[in-house]
Amino acid sequence: MTVARLSTVPPGTVIQVLAGERWYALANVDGVLHAVDNNCPHNGGPLGKGTLIGRELTCPWHGWCWDVTSGRNCWPGTDWRVSRVPVRVVGDGEIQLPVL
Ligand code: FES
Repeated sequence: MTVARLSTVPPGTVIQVLAGERWYALANVDGVLHAVDNNCPHNGGPLGKGTLIGRELTCPWHGWCWDVTSGRNCWPGTDWRVSRVPVRVVGDGEIQLPVL
């Protein structure tokens, strides 16, 4: 389903979007869009309100960091992951996510 327009998430930014009943953090890394679960695996913080630097998204609650291109935690030696969903851009810039 369409969750946003390309113009609302320029490169280097992240926003929260709703697809069905699930919220996602939608990040634009150098023009490529990535969507991860909005709920931080640490304690449910809103990743879509976090800080995006390159491909690393830092949670606003306690600073855990996630690579939005893989879903992996940024810190070496950890197995923590945030789930990702595929992103599609159609038409004249409609961003679509699956409804799970
Ligand atoms: S809830 Fe995200 S770092 Fe704690």
